[in-house]
Amino acid sequence: DWVMRDHVAEAVAAIRKQVGNEEVILGLSGGVDSSVAAALIHRAIGDQLTCVFVDHGLLRLNEGDKVMEMFAGKLHAKVVRVDAADLFLGKLAGVSDPEAKRKIIGGLFVDVFKAQAEKIKQSHSRHVAWLAQGTIYPDVIESGGAKSKKAVTIKSHHNVGGLPEQLGLKLLEPLRDLFKDEVRELGVALGLPPEMVYRHPFPGPGLGVRILGEVKKEYAELLRRADDIFIQELRNFRDESTGKSWYDLTSQAFTVFLPVKSVGVMGDGRTYDYVVALRAVQTSDFMTADWAELPYALLKRVSGRIINEVRGINRVTYDVSSKPPATIEWE
Ligand code: XMP
Repeated sequence: DWVMRDHVAEAVAAIRKQVGNEEVILGLSGGVDSSVAAALIHRAIGDQLTCVFVDHGLLRLNEGDKVMEMFAGKLHAKVVRVDAADLFLGKLAGVSDPEAKRKIIGGLFVDVFKAQAEKIKQSHSRHVAWLAQGTIYPDVIESGGAKSKKAVTIKSHHNVGGLPEQLGLKLLEPLRDLFKDEVRELGVALGLPPEMVYRHPFPGPGLGVRILGEVKKEYAELLRRADDIFIQELRNFRDESTGKSWYDLTSQAFTVFLPVKSVGVMGDGRTYDYVVALRAVQTSDFMTADWAELPYALLKRVSGRIINEVRGINRVTYDVSSKPPATIEWE
């Protein structure tokens, strides 16, 4: 609509004025906020923007390729992809505590990003002066409102506070006045596909907190395939009365890998394989959430497909716990 087009033009002009002919670095995660920030800044300054995409090996199926296809392929943005899966998995070996895993993933993420940013700073002829972030208005309130912060951190979310200072860069935050739904509209106005812009949230530590206990490559590979089937079927199944897909009718849905084995039968043989849990919730603020009453036909289809298609998983369960007292993620 014209209001959004106006907003795009205004935001583009503001970025050009702020940045001048200096260079900008942005950390692309594949999430909505950094994607929209990247698309907007690219629209404004083109090749003065370099995106850094750190693939920690704990992303969803083909996520890295999709991010590259969209930003390098379709938008023709400069994107450096850092394949750090082995590094992350190596440091996570033997670690099973959820908070310890979060700290390792968050810390490594910053290290890898910083090293890459330094490299870019040195290799560019023009002055690299800016670090762009997809900070949105609710993040601004959250980090400013120290008073409202709970005394106990239940789960430490990794953010990159202090990074601009450490890199000697100024901060560019073109989304900091926008609410989430405005960011999504802006993304669509910039030509990002709606299914990308209206995606469920995905935690920074990714599959690292969806594989219970120690993270192993084998587990991540099984989980990625099972989760992809779940998401595909949520997108396929529509609610008859509203016509909406169950993906759109849920706020967040994903698969959790349980590193326990249970017995099954397959043909004439006995199997002894891993278990996954499906999680789907409805919520308006993610502070409280109800488990989603998914249709049995959908659950049946997902379970059948996972067990048949993902060798190594022979049992699928559905999580019927609400938040509180359960959290949305299992770790
Ligand atoms: P919980 O599990 O606390 O999740 O009910 C609430 C929302 O926060 C997301 N979440 C995270 N996001 N880093 C993130 O970026 C994290 O460590 C993290 N832990 C939970 C979760 O996916 C849900 O949307």
